[in-house]
Amino acid sequence: MQNNTFSGLNLRQNLIVLEEVTSTNDYLKLLLSNIKPLAEGTAIMTKHQSQGRGQRGTAWLTKPEENLTVSFLLYPNSLPVQHAFNLNILVSLGVHQWLTHYIKDVYIKWPNDIFVGQKKIGGILIENQLRGAMVKSSIVGIGININQQDFPDSLKTSATSLKQHLKSAKNLDIEACCRDMLTQIFTLYKQSDLKHPEKIRAAYTALLLMHGKPALFEVNEKQIEGTIQGVDSLGRLIVLIGQSTQSFDLKEIRLLI
Ligand code: BTN
Repeated sequence: MQNNTFSGLNLRQNLIVLEEVTSTNDYLKLLLSNIKPLAEGTAIMTKHQSQGRGQRGTAWLTKPEENLTVSFLLYPNSLPVQHAFNLNILVSLGVHQWLTHYIKDVYIKWPNDIFVGQKKIGGILIENQLRGAMVKSSIVGIGININQQDFPDSLKTSATSLKQHLKSAKNLDIEACCRDMLTQIFTLYKQSDLKHPEKIRAAYTALLLMHGKPALFEVNEKQIEGTIQGVDSLGRLIVLIGQSTQSFDLKEIRLLI
């Protein structure tokens, strides 16, 4: 089987820890445009991210020194743009595998939010640089709540952290968490062929929050009931509504939980 180890890839963790940046994704993007070639696996972690970005143009707010914020660089091996979602699948799985060393009940909320039970513990923002119809490089940004105990009122019922699920009163070492998580993701990346994602897509589908269970969604500002079946090759969410299945992209549907 062809996989990313045959791409001439020498993926090594090269973690740079910075005191404060606006956004680790933006910082890595700047490095990528200034340093040629920038090694695959270069990772930027910061203790204080002041202007973090999330999906759908949202802000990613995180308390300084309490949580994990990291971005790393990949050069996927001849990955066509239409298969780019497979990288989201792979990274979500890697984060899931790492978190399940600590806790159970971890799910992926489509497309790539990380949940524990019904609460969000982390999120992923992947930004691809394209050459024609191919993905030339990918900046993978991950935010995971690690030691945060108090959340603002608006997030109290919807957000959680790793520490809230552990018995110990001691804080976790965020840099060590980061290294372990990156090792897990890089191992999976080296083993996988993103152009033949059947195995990782099946694993991802099985871990989707509310997979196979009736759930409420918002579509066109209306609430509808449906059941998640999986994702298609473009990464769209496949939902059974009544008797028929429909595929939705990120802008078209929201799971209400
Ligand atoms: C989301 O759930 O909306 C995605 C959140 C992604 C946040 C991470 S934190 C590290 C990296 N830098 C950013 O500005 N965003 C990502």
